[in-house]
Amino acid sequence: MDVEVRPVGKLRESAAAQAAFGPLIEALCRSPADLSRLRVVCDWIQYSSNFREPVASRQVIGGEPGQLELAIDLRRCADADLPGAVAAVLGEPAEAGGCTWLEPWVSGRESCIWRFNSLYWQALSLWEKATGREYEQSLPGGESDARNTEAARELILELFKLWDELDARRALPEELYVLELGVGNGNQARTWLDQFVELDRRHGRDYYRRLHYLMGDYSAHVLDRARQAVAHHGEHVSALVVEATRPAITLGFLTGKTFLVYISNVYDNLPTDEVACIDGRMYLVQTRAHVAGAGRLAGRFGVQRQDLEPLIQRLLRIGPELLSESVPEHFADPSQAVSFWQAAWQALRLAERYVLLEGLDTYRISPSLTGEILRPLLEGHGDIRMHVSNGTMASFADTLPLLHPFGRVQCHDLFLTGQADYRTGFYGPGKYDGSVVNWVNGPLLQLLASRRGFDVRFAPFRQRPGSNVKTMTAQVRD
Ligand SMILES: C[S@@+](CC[C@H](N)C(=O)[O-])C[C@H]1O[C@@H](n2cnc3c(N)ncnc32)[C@H](O)[C@@H]1O
Repeated sequence: MDVEVRPVGKLRESAAAQAAFGPLIEALCRSPADLSRLRVVCDWIQYSSNFREPVASRQVIGGEPGQLELAIDLRRCADADLPGAVAAVLGEPAEAGGCTWLEPWVSGRESCIWRFNSLYWQALSLWEKATGREYEQSLPGGESDARNTEAARELILELFKLWDELDARRALPEELYVLELGVGNGNQARTWLDQFVELDRRHGRDYYRRLHYLMGDYSAHVLDRARQAVAHHGEHVSALVVEATRPAITLGFLTGKTFLVYISNVYDNLPTDEVACIDGRMYLVQTRAHVAGAGRLAGRFGVQRQDLEPLIQRLLRIGPELLSESVPEHFADPSQAVSFWQAAWQALRLAERYVLLEGLDTYRISPSLTGEILRPLLEGHGDIRMHVSNGTMASFADTLPLLHPFGRVQCHDLFLTGQADYRTGFYGPGKYDGSVVNWVNGPLLQLLASRRGFDVRFAPFRQRPGSNVKTMTAQVRD
């Protein structure tokens, strides 16, 4: 039996985590599980709202027959009936009846949790009205770092320097394009543009007259809000519906022209798979969404338990407002449908299993990238599990061609900067209000950039150095 403890720092600090091991081993010894094929993996899930039960089992399919993983969340095990939970999950596979499943087994990026995520951004105001909180409050630090005035000014002054140099060589185009992907409430666009105007006035080169600030987002609702936030910048701003994982479809006209692509807190919100290396074999983590406490949830909203799954599917298709119109007998007004949405989201869990990958080249990260690129990160490092950050990889690859030869991508987000980090922490998925968060696989992004002739650098977010948010900059390699 292998026991892997990832949160070694937390283990030293937490008496409850240390105390969990005695009862855990006792429960394992009492269970009928074949201990010679059992892996026990302990995490510390820092997100109080997440998709896991404190104790869960995961089948390993295609490796050693009968191999099983037992997953423990050390943060919550003091509050859980650990021996009872271990006995339950080892006695009854996750596939057994009694569960309200929302989908078949799929890879992480295909899960319906991303439909919930998208619904959150499409119907953000309804959610915020119900909670009385703005989405920014759930971001690291309680507000978006892209709103930081000092960071915005630094970036703008660097742009001015570049533009002055190009101008001196008569190489500065008339139109100066800046693109922001994933604009949220538009606060960061407003901060950036307001600072731009002020600095441009002082700089005296009239760059503002030539500036086009493009805001791209997949939520028309969010774009509307952002547009209002920057209305005073008039013609200098355009709002476009853009799928961040395929920006070139809408933004192809910017190819080779964009001086700055500005992104914050978006990459950690894009769909991702996870892969793992166990005993030298590569696996894809498959997930399956289900509802915990389905009976309670159904009872609370006066629906039959068997109607719960179709009702959630309908919510995901048409949103809470139309749901209340279509089944007024359950939801008399939109606010009740929003309560149902929030309760379903809170009850949403992901079962997981590992499925052998026949070869890394048979796995596609994105339409233009195979899993081969993962090899140096996965092979030869012992047992490891990591995110593939598929949405980010696709977005980034599609964004690079939009850059002017001297342009850059600048991004504030949750990045891992070394694959060894995966051994010691939990990096998602977690829930931020109604959205999904997964840290981004920084070393993988660096590998992709380097294949395309770009350098990717990570630095602490200078204005809040203690935070988990890092600043990523991508530019053509010197
Ligand atoms: C956490 S918010 C960040 C907003 C803002 N940049 C900030 O830092 O406050 C994520 C934003 O990304 C957008 N978004 C998420 N997934 C997207 C996708 N696949 N395509 C386009 N926009 C997406 C959401 O609509 C939302 O506006």
